[in-house]
Amino acid sequence: MTPVGIDAVEIWTGKLQLNLPETFAPAKDEDPDKYRKGIGLEHSSFPDLYEDIVTMGANAAKRLMERRGLTPEDIGRIDVATESAFDNSKPVSTYIAGCLEQYFEADFRHANKGERKFACVAGTQSIDDAYNWIRAGRNRGRAALVIATDTALYARGDPGEATQGAGAVAMLVDENPDLVEISTEQGYGSMDETDFLKPNQQFPSVDGKRSMQVYLSRMREAVEDFESVAWDMHPDDFAYIPFHTPFPGMVRKAALLGYRHMSRDTEIEDELAGEIGRQPRRDEYTSWDGYEEAIRDYMDDLKGTDQYRAWYDKAIEPTLGISRHVGNWYTGSVHIARIAALKYAAANDRDLAGEKLLVGSYGSGAQAEIHAETVQEGWREEIAGLNVDAQLDARYDLSFEEYETVHDSHNYDKGSVDVEEFTSPDDEFVFTGWGRMNERKYEYVE
Ligand code: HMG
Repeated sequence: MTPVGIDAVEIWTGKLQLNLPETFAPAKDEDPDKYRKGIGLEHSSFPDLYEDIVTMGANAAKRLMERRGLTPEDIGRIDVATESAFDNSKPVSTYIAGCLEQYFEADFRHANKGERKFACVAGTQSIDDAYNWIRAGRNRGRAALVIATDTALYARGDPGEATQGAGAVAMLVDENPDLVEISTEQGYGSMDETDFLKPNQQFPSVDGKRSMQVYLSRMREAVEDFESVAWDMHPDDFAYIPFHTPFPGMVRKAALLGYRHMSRDTEIEDELAGEIGRQPRRDEYTSWDGYEEAIRDYMDDLKGTDQYRAWYDKAIEPTLGISRHVGNWYTGSVHIARIAALKYAAANDRDLAGEKLLVGSYGSGAQAEIHAETVQEGWREEIAGLNVDAQLDARYDLSFEEYETVHDSHNYDKGSVDVEEFTSPDDEFVFTGWGRMNERKYEYVE
């Protein structure tokens, strides 16, 4: 079967940053270590005044198309995943296509466009749609452009304010991909949950602690569902495991659960038995509470073992390298975790071709999806084309007062805020205001 997967990627970060331990924590009278050690975030990225989900998505897609020498004729489908849409009818993909048409001076009339919504998992679902479209033979030799773009803002004072972010990931899904082949096998954990939602409101209603429990429960179900169609996984089966990363502290919890699951009934459990005992089994306990308590104790011990720490440093920590400096990008979050891991491997001269990734996506509301990916021969060259570090380094560093103004300026309820842009656009699409039907307007600035 011809491999189908991700051929090319690009990111576009919001051009402002907020330093969480040094700027945000003191203003909130909090310990900076809550961010450095607990949540695990150094910075959040924010959009400048002329940026939004359309400009960030279009700028990432333009970079990708230019770098790969593509024209609109090569793209048969544009899917945008977002939970920050500003229109209940006209999809963000039409705005992004409009921007790209201006720049490339060619049209996307032939391209099927849409918008996917299921909280953060929608980015992966859009890749799925593209994958299925190609597998069904409906693509007529064309590739799909998938764009995950979000402005993840929370209401001021909400605990979620600590985990904000803004940015876009553009991905080209095609046959014979250069980056990763996607497995046909996938697993789901899906249930009607009210942990995080935006019922026709800009900022989410969040039950933060519960959202973390729901994340872990759905992820566990997705892992089991994946194993039922794939194979019983072992921790060493994967070079890296990129998870949906609302903040690195969440991934720390998910990784520990995953390791416990994958090491059960393996030589790892046998080796650790002398140090921390064997994993508790349900039939050894008369009550569910007793069993759960034993699991919690085992996990506490497991976390401190050399085996677990070495595995975490090798397979998980490298996936967090970008997220730590940008915060939650919602739909793009798991996709920047993949990029971070591949970027780390390239920087450390690791030969990854043929190795596997396990990708754990998640969206509140709630659904987790698990699939495997196989790294392709062209991965190194593709990753070398990215300018992630340059983009992160170029961001304007906000003071707390400036952050407050930026938050207000992106708050629909505040109306227009009288403030200057913090950065100057340079060869990119910018938001210029509203048209006669309240549509948003964009132009390309050289
Ligand atoms: P909070 O109340 O600000 O923070 O809420 P906290 O007091 O729970 O502290 C956070 C961590 O820092 C804790 O670690 C503390 O112990 C630690 P844990 O116990 O959990 O391991 N800590 C410290 N560590 C060292 N030194 C210190 C210190 N102080 C504290 N001095 C919360 C945090 C994440 C709940 C909040 O930010 C929130 O509500 N965020 C939004 C919801 C969210 O991100 N949920 C994640 C799962 S749901 C998801 O991923 C989906 C999502 O992306 C949306 C979508 O799908 O569309 C959000």
